[in-house]
Parts: sequence; C-alpha cells; structure tokens
Amino acid sequence: MNQNPAPREFTTAAGIRAWVTAQRAGGSRIGFVPTMGFLHEGHLRLVDAARAVSDVVVMSIFVNPLQFGPTEDLARYPRDLSRDRSLAAGRGVDALFLPDVSVMYPPGSDTRVVPGPAADVWEGAARPGHFSGVLTVVAKLFHLVSPDVAVFGQKDAQQVALIRRMVRDLDWPVALVVAPTAREPDGLALSSRNTYLSPADRRDAVGLSAALRAAHDAWREGETDGRRLEAVARRALEVYPGVRPEYISAVEPDALAPAEIVGAGYLMLVAARVGSTRLIDNVVFGEGIP
Ligand code: PAJ
Repeated sequence: MNQNPAPREFTTAAGIRAWVTAQRAGGSRIGFVPTMGFLHEGHLRLVDAARAVSDVVVMSIFVNPLQFGPTEDLARYPRDLSRDRSLAAGRGVDALFLPDVSVMYPPGSDTRVVPGPAADVWEGAARPGHFSGVLTVVAKLFHLVSPDVAVFGQKDAQQVALIRRMVRDLDWPVALVVAPTAREPDGLALSSRNTYLSPADRRDAVGLSAALRAAHDAWREGETDGRRLEAVARRALEVYPGVRPEYISAVEPDALAPAEIVGAGYLMLVAARVGSTRLIDNVVFGEGIP
C-alpha cells in the first residue's frame, strides 16, 4: 500500500525555485536526487539516502541530451514517466522536477562546464564530451534546486569523482552523499540499460561483477599489485564469452589514475559490451561486492 502523497510536480525553473525557496524558508533541509528516469531500486536507494539527511527530497528526471554522443542511445533511452511517478511516490519523494529540453537548454544556451583531465580517461575516452554534458546539467540542476545535500550512486564512479571535483573547485555549498551500488541477487549492477539485454546477454552480464569480485577476493588475500589484480579480473571474465571488455583498471580514487599498489578506497573500474549493450561497473577495495 502506498501511504505517501503524490509528489508535487514542476516543469519550469521558476516553479521548482519558488517551491524550494518556500521549503527552505520553513526551515527544511533540501535533499536532491538527479536522475534520467526509468527508475529502479538503485535510484530509489538514493532517495532513501537523501531522506535520511534531509527534510524534503527533490528528484529530477531529465534525459540530458548533452551527455549523449551522436552515435549513442539518446533516442532509444528507456522512458516510463507514469511508472517513475508511482515509484517516486512510493518512496516518499516530495517533489519531482520534470523539465523539457526547451526549459534546460533554450535556443542559444551554449555555455558548458569544462571538466579537468580526469574527464578524458575511461568513460570520458570512450564517450568524448560526456562528462562536460553531465557537469553542465548537474551545475544547472544545482542552481535550480539549490540543495543542501545531493545524492549520487557509486555505480558511476567517474561521474562521482568529477562532480566532487566540480563542487570543490567551484566552492559549491552542497554536501555530496555517495550511495553504494544496488545489485541484482547475482551481482549485476542495476542499470536502466539492463533493459536492453537479451536473456543470453543477461546471463553473461553477471561477468562484470564476477570479475570485480574475483579481483577483490585476491586483494583481500594480500595481492596489492594493480596489474596483477587486473589480470585476475580479466581471467575471471574469460568464462563469459559474450562479454567484450573495453577497460579493466585498478585506479586511485581521485584522478582515477592507474594504481601500481592498490590500497583500501581504491577502485577497480570495468566497462564491457554485452551484445550491443555497453555496461560499466566498479568495486571499491575494502567494500567489496555483496
Ligand atoms: P542515471 O543513470 O539515471 O542515474 C541517476 C543516479 O542513480 C546516479 O547518481 C547514478 O549513479 C545512480 N545509480 C544508477 N544505478 C545505480 C545503482 N545500481 N546503484 C546505486 N546508484 C545507481 O547518472 C545519471 O543518471 C546522469 O548522469 C545524471 C547525474 C542524472 C545527470 O544527467
């Protein structure tokens, strides 16, 4: 039974601003969860994390064209607003911000956030311009919602690292909370893009988390050499013939540079194609994969 009232909905900058301003004037601390919709349990855990440290929770749903490359899946990115509405309501979201592209990027809006070099590696190398698009929309959303706390998922480790840098470099008065990656029982990280997987792809897709788990197990047993940990992960992936790895790398957590010696808090990043779907995942050394 859904006991929560339906969230308020706003589609304009003035609308969301006025509501947030009134909430803040009433003494509420504002939590914010930006998303591109097609919600799953991973997104909803971010709502729980926001709720734990704020009085009201705003979620945005906006499929941001700026962060998709010309050959990427913008047009077919999955959308289901009525399902998203009821999932958000069920989790107690107080306000949904649902802007159109014309609200976020009116004609002539051509200013962009330029990230540092940490945006040019891994996902950034595979998806040129992606992180400029992400940081630009996050900057705009932060200005529109002016949250006290914003919550992001560890699933997108490079995104988190770059947003953290932007907030620090531009002195943004917002606290960031990073929530752990929500997974299927077999380990596959939840993702809106999992919907693209055929049944055979779905069986292979577990290879990403299995490879990360193998590397993490080796680290727990005392292996700290970054290249050897990568080799462990690559060998574990060979069991899944349908997985074509793009990168597997042990990195330090700030600039995401490859790590020779891997300590607690370092990451292993993986990106791979399964069928025609590109998936990413990562593990934080010391946290592991349940
Ligand atoms: P989207 O892919 O919809 O993800 C929204 C948020 O949910 C991000 O912070 C992402 O890291 C988090 N998330 C996704 N899958 C998760 C999982 N399995 N466990 C935990 N968190 C998960 O990331 C974006 O949208 C966009 O780039 C955005 C930040 C909204 C800017 O457009």
